[in-house]
Amino acid sequence: MKRANFGSKIGVVLASAGSAVGLGNVWRFPYETGQNGGAAFILIYLGCVLLLGMPIMISEFIIGRHSQANTTGAYKFLAPNTHWKWLGFWGVMTGFLILSYYSVVAGWTLEYVMEALLNGFTGKIPSDFEASFVSFSQNPWRPLLWLAFFLLLTHFIIIKGVEKGIERSSKIMMPMLFLIIVMLVFCSLSLDGSEKGLEFLLKPDFSKVTSGTFLGAMGQAFFSLSLGMGCLCTYASYFNKNTNLTKTAFSVAGIDTVIAVLAGLIIFPAAFSVGIEPDKGASLVFITLPNVFQSAFGDVPVLAYVFSLMFYLLLALAALTSTISLHEVATAYLHEEFGFSRKKAAWCVTGCCLFLGVLCSLSLGVFQWFKIAGFTFFDLFDFVTAKLMLPLGGLFIAIFAGWFLDKKIVKDEMMTGGGVSVRLFMAYRFVLRYFVPVGISAIFLNELGVFS
Ligand code: PHE
Repeated sequence: MKRANFGSKIGVVLASAGSAVGLGNVWRFPYETGQNGGAAFILIYLGCVLLLGMPIMISEFIIGRHSQANTTGAYKFLAPNTHWKWLGFWGVMTGFLILSYYSVVAGWTLEYVMEALLNGFTGKIPSDFEASFVSFSQNPWRPLLWLAFFLLLTHFIIIKGVEKGIERSSKIMMPMLFLIIVMLVFCSLSLDGSEKGLEFLLKPDFSKVTSGTFLGAMGQAFFSLSLGMGCLCTYASYFNKNTNLTKTAFSVAGIDTVIAVLAGLIIFPAAFSVGIEPDKGASLVFITLPNVFQSAFGDVPVLAYVFSLMFYLLLALAALTSTISLHEVATAYLHEEFGFSRKKAAWCVTGCCLFLGVLCSLSLGVFQWFKIAGFTFFDLFDFVTAKLMLPLGGLFIAIFAGWFLDKKIVKDEMMTGGGVSVRLFMAYRFVLRYFVPVGISAIFLNELGVFS
């Protein structure tokens, strides 16, 4: 059977960027930055993107395109009869867990779409937004309905298949999201007292850096770039032979990083301007943003209405292009490895994630008292996936592509499409073989207190 393919070059970049850009940029990046002290965290984050993220992304692309298979199938093809297939399986498991709690937050964005649509933000003051977020996220029913709705939306797009579903939606949504984000940056910077937020973002205070800052930055880099779990590897299996993998990787990482930094430029000036603490955690975006619309367009309610509606709609859509990519990893795995029809495979994934997602959602409200190692289910899923599973997956992907995979395959895949010099290839290979494994291990060991 002929495998599906992305139809155009721009489709390749946009679909991969669609996976990368999502709640990780707009929701998770600002709250990790806020909890880790601001600018110094961002610098370490940028280092992680460039030195760990880039080589691993190129490697995932190489593995996926060369094998033309789902993550587990890829390792079976490239390293038959070895244990490497477990690395693919590890990715599938990670994807399941991320999709479960990610869909909870994606569901929240839909509630906010609804709220914006019904003009629910008008006339509210900052403390109202905080109170309404708390009461919504702790409500036993509403978040669950949105969660189910969001997962089903993902499900039906997945069933429609790769080109029609994934590519077409990304092509329209990504540029629109970008435009509205840029506009919001200007709105946020024009608020009274926004300079303090800018300072928080741009002036590094290294006294705030701890071992947790490094782990947080590394985890955020993997999470935001969709790395370490075979997601971009699965997408690359739909690339055609002319795609320039290196250029695609740089474009995806560039777009992702720019959007994350722009999101920071919206959230922090807004938070400081209305006196919301930057370390507020998971609720940060949901309580600061509605204020931006109210304060910036307070005199022209129509604009406040239109922009808040558009923003939450686009955020929900950005989340959707990410949940699609997460879902696709597990669906392609069940479909190709177990011979399930795509439909049946997709139902299995949706069902399991719905179950786990319900647990995550309730752990913020009625099951708040239930903690494992001090974490609610929701926080546990976030911590385990972003800070442990993705970086560990990335470590082994680097070892596989750097030390195990035939150098000729790596070189051929990286050089096709032109524009890549031998020097760049050598640099990539050096960083992948030595720097990445040592860097990731050092950050883990540092967290365990080995160096202190
Ligand atoms: N990168 C996505 C985001 O930033 C989340 C994601 C993680 C998607 C891992 C796929 C794989 O929102």
